[in-house]
Amino acid sequence: MNKRFWDDIKKPIIGLAPMDGYSDSAFRRICREVNPSIVTVTEFTSADGLHFNAQQLKKKLYFHPSEQPVIAQIFGKNVDTFVSATKLCEDMGFSGIDLNMGCPSKKVVRSEHGVALRKNPALACQLIEAVANATSLPVSVKTRLGWDNADDLVEFGVAAENAGANMICIHARTYQEPYKVAPQYAPVQALKAALTIPVIGNGGIESMAHGHQLCAGLDGFYIGQATFGNPWIFSEYPPPQFKDRVPLILRHAAYLIEHKGTRVGCCEIRKHLLAYVKGVHGAKALKKELVRVDSLASITELLQQVIEQEETHVKNNSAYQYA
Ligand SMILES: Cc1cc2nc3c(=O)[nH]c(=O)nc-3n(C[C@H](O)[C@H](O)[C@H](O)COP(=O)(O)O)c2cc1C
Repeated sequence: MNKRFWDDIKKPIIGLAPMDGYSDSAFRRICREVNPSIVTVTEFTSADGLHFNAQQLKKKLYFHPSEQPVIAQIFGKNVDTFVSATKLCEDMGFSGIDLNMGCPSKKVVRSEHGVALRKNPALACQLIEAVANATSLPVSVKTRLGWDNADDLVEFGVAAENAGANMICIHARTYQEPYKVAPQYAPVQALKAALTIPVIGNGGIESMAHGHQLCAGLDGFYIGQATFGNPWIFSEYPPPQFKDRVPLILRHAAYLIEHKGTRVGCCEIRKHLLAYVKGVHGAKALKKELVRVDSLASITELLQQVIEQEETHVKNNSAYQYA
């Protein structure tokens, strides 16, 4: 991969947003099976952790070759550990490095990482420049509109571009705004007009059509929470019926188990299973069992029961309609 990756990739760029606890290798593979042209980003990973305890954290950054182009996201505030984490990601074969300057979690902000870097743009740019100079990979930045308003977004974006960023993704909310606050895309459009590097929008996108509409004029968009239980969101077609979704759900479970082992894989698939069956008739009664699955066989069996419940519901409903 080279520095022009984000310029050369087909527009609009569509991607799975980095999400800790969700955008792991298994889910990234599943989303790319739905739409092989999307870009995916790893869960955020500590640059300090990669520097001091590489073996353990490298497992978190595992990716399957079919995921390419896959981008590694790192967070921190130390120039030296950012550089060594970047080199490690480059050696692992990632297609790009993304610098997290948007995470609002208390622990991250207290350590002056994530979105806290927006309060220290000089350090943010020092990190971007050091990483950009240390790697031949493209370097992107994911951040928010700002701390409590978007007043310095353009200034920050211009400085990031000058420091060597090759793309910037903006979550269209400020640090102070919880997820339920509507995103504001006008400041992201203003940023796009001021930069030459690609600008991607993110936040509150509920479908591909919605993304195309909200991010018209930008270089693309990342979708986050709306992918939970719905990787088909990346398809241009309507989602299949539940029974036709099951093979992909089972592959998701199989990839998780393959990578993390049966115990951890089964624990981690549980929240996805609840999301996959949300709104499916009859699934409510099986929730208690879905959060206790402990093998691929038990997942297969339960999903078969969900299919049967759904079919019974459809049959009963149509019998009622025609009675
Ligand atoms: C559970 C969860 C974990 C997240 N983890 C990360 C992360 O590791 N790195 C990051 O840059 N953003 C992270 N985010 C923010 C998302 O990438 C995205 O910016 C945000 O969810 C808004 O997009 P959406 O409305 O489409 O979900 C996370 C969000 C959620 C809900």
